[in-house]
Amino acid sequence: MQQNIRFSIVGFGNIGRRHGVQIQNNPFATLVSVCDIDPVVGEHVPEGVAFYTDLNAMLQAGNTDVLCVCTPNYLHEAHTIAAMNAGMHAVVEKPMALSVAECRNMIAASEKNNKIIFAVKQNRYNPPVQEVKKLVAANQLGAVYMVQVNCFWNRGDAYYSGSDWRGSKLKDGGCLFTQFSHFVDILYYINGSVTQASGAVENFGHTHNTEVEDTGSFIMKGANGSIINFNFTTCAYNSNMEGSITIFAEKGTVKIGGQYLNTIEYQQLLGEALPPINITAKSNNYGLYQGSMSNHDKVIQNVIDVLIHDMPVMTSAAEGLEVVGIIEMMYQSVQR
Ligand SMILES: NC(=O)c1ccc[n+]([C@@H]2O[C@H](COP(=O)([O-])OP(=O)(O)OC[C@H]3O[C@@H](n4cnc5c(N)ncnc54)[C@H](O)[C@@H]3O)[C@@H](O)[C@H]2O)c1
Repeated sequence: MQQNIRFSIVGFGNIGRRHGVQIQNNPFATLVSVCDIDPVVGEHVPEGVAFYTDLNAMLQAGNTDVLCVCTPNYLHEAHTIAAMNAGMHAVVEKPMALSVAECRNMIAASEKNNKIIFAVKQNRYNPPVQEVKKLVAANQLGAVYMVQVNCFWNRGDAYYSGSDWRGSKLKDGGCLFTQFSHFVDILYYINGSVTQASGAVENFGHTHNTEVEDTGSFIMKGANGSIINFNFTTCAYNSNMEGSITIFAEKGTVKIGGQYLNTIEYQQLLGEALPPINITAKSNNYGLYQGSMSNHDKVIQNVIDVLIHDMPVMTSAAEGLEVVGIIEMMYQSVQR
């Protein structure tokens, strides 16, 4: 049995470097090579790790097991399929892709080559999310009546300046793909599929630097019969304010809150109370803006667990597709 998994990374920007750190921190993983079209990025590649500016050249070297796809959203499909065809597994950053059709192409390549796609949804590992997931899975909340999702973040000019993809309709896709797909995923992870969506979106504060909306509000129906409210904005003044999911159910009300789904903010449960959880120090800090909870160590560990110990994949490609499908349904319901 192979005891050390060899990784490569394509796209060595904000999140690619985080993958690099977590791969190098894991005793069962080796970072073999990195590819980025920007040669300057080579300066950030750790010593002893090969650097390429051409993905095909890196894949042809044929000396790694897993490709972490950390390029902008619109490249996830092509880069994942390239990894599959080169005989590698792929860890694909969120969103898995920009349409269900792209996700299907990726899954077809994975099936053809018998290689695994790991979709990155690291917020699933947040302790409050795990506690509520267990409650729902054990049917301790009974019927779910209503779910309220609030994503109130701040993205200022510095976030968009200097990027050729952020805020682009074709390359980024919009806030539901880039900023809030984590929240769509946790909604799906806890409450299941969505069957209907309608809403409104507007670009209020970012018309000078984005082609997409910065604010939206949706009413949706869950396959379990629940009513879902999904509100988002990147116009929260000056800083991220809230990222929360509240569940109103037959046997309890519970709110996962904080800025990044990092606390159990409220609970009234018929059954035993959840442990108090308030994790404050673990968000991804990118200097100019704050991202989601930093659980990429667990993402890399899941790859190791699956490939070495035959354990289950935390977020499969099929689930990545479901999340993209919900986002697609939401966007198809509005004028953009
Ligand atoms: N899981 C999370 O919490 C999280 C956080 C941030 C970003 N992301 C996702 O990660 C991806 C990258 O985001 P980022 O913030 O790191 O972006 P970024 O702009 O900082 O980095 C992207 C890198 O990809 C490189 N690149 C572009 N085209 C390429 C190509 N054809 N071949 C090789 N390299 C290429 C760029 O030069 C750049 O260095 C996005 O899909 C984003 O949604 C996920």
